[in-house]
Amino acid sequence: MRKHTLVLKAADPCGDRAVLEKAAAILREGGLVVFATETVYGIGANALDEQAVSGIFEAKGRPQDNPLIVHIARWDDLPTLAREIPPAARLLAAGFWPGPLTMILESSGAVAACVSGGLNTVAVRMPSHPVARELIRLAGVPVAAPSANRSGRPSPTTARHCFDDLSGRVDIILDSGSCPVGVESTVITLAGGTPRVLRPGAVTVEQLREVLGEVEVDAAVLHHVEEGAAVASPGMKYQHYAPRADIQLVHATGRQFREYVQRLKGEGVCALAFDEDCPHIGVPCIAYGAEDDPASQAERLFAALHELDQAGAKRVYARAPNLVGVGLAVYNRLIRAAAFEEIYL
Ligand code: TXA
Ligand code: MG
Repeated sequence: MRKHTLVLKAADPCGDRAVLEKAAAILREGGLVVFATETVYGIGANALDEQAVSGIFEAKGRPQDNPLIVHIARWDDLPTLAREIPPAARLLAAGFWPGPLTMILESSGAVAACVSGGLNTVAVRMPSHPVARELIRLAGVPVAAPSANRSGRPSPTTARHCFDDLSGRVDIILDSGSCPVGVESTVITLAGGTPRVLRPGAVTVEQLREVLGEVEVDAAVLHHVEEGAAVASPGMKYQHYAPRADIQLVHATGRQFREYVQRLKGEGVCALAFDEDCPHIGVPCIAYGAEDDPASQAERLFAALHELDQAGAKRVYARAPNLVGVGLAVYNRLIRAAAFEEIYL
């Protein structure tokens, strides 16, 4: 069903309170609200309302077996969602909540069945973005929210990205400017065995190990999993983050990269590279942060993928990031955007 999508500014939770109250009422009534978090924009619905949540799957064109993250505003909202709260969850919450970390716990069964995509676990996160927190608090319900993009497309870090993908499919888009972290939350499962990172993000594996000791990294973080394969995090098996161009990820020094791209230049060929690289590349180049600053790469990455579309890129050579710290998350997204096509020079 086509909806009339309202776009309203919500830069500050106090000044824009009337707007947030309106959006919270839409959530309570079963509607779909797009809102900013510190990571990326999310498309939210009342996690306790099966019909509202099924609207998210429809709006995104998302496979039904790919579960959603439930967003809360207070620690006290957690006990109703999880069957039990392991000590590791308390430690992680003390260290990283509110913030870009999602924990997978055994579900209490309180959330709508489709939120968990048929699993007996639930993914929970307490975002730190002031607008997100105030919206959830005012709604008074846990909010299921995947990234606010059509399935398979790059995640949105501005309201404009959301509008381009979801206009006519959601009730309201709250415009709070761009998202400071830029890549989605780190996902860690605590639902049995050694804690395991299913998706890397701004809370790094190194930081998690400092708090928990042993932490594993799921094989699907760095490697391709076949569609249809059994994976811990269903989201990992689908094509993701894809702009319209074909991307090849190139592991190289700045100089090797420049020489390689110049040999291959032609119509529709673009580079995606670091700020320092772009002035010397000799083909249209979109910058995605500084070489030594993975946080700046994370912040820019999805906007850069959207800009490649606007530039009409058909073939993109992307300079690969370093895999340390947040760089692991940047690489994890880029390698999916490139459908695992990579080359080492
Ligand atoms: O930063 C974020 O996490 C953003 C913002 C909006 O909060 N949300 C987000 O949601 O990235 P989404 O739906 O795009 O990604 C959720 C990921 C998917 O890979 C999904 O498979 C996984 O989390 N996931 C959710 N529930 C799970 C569960 N119970 N077990 C395993 N994986 C789960
Ligand atoms: Mg997503």
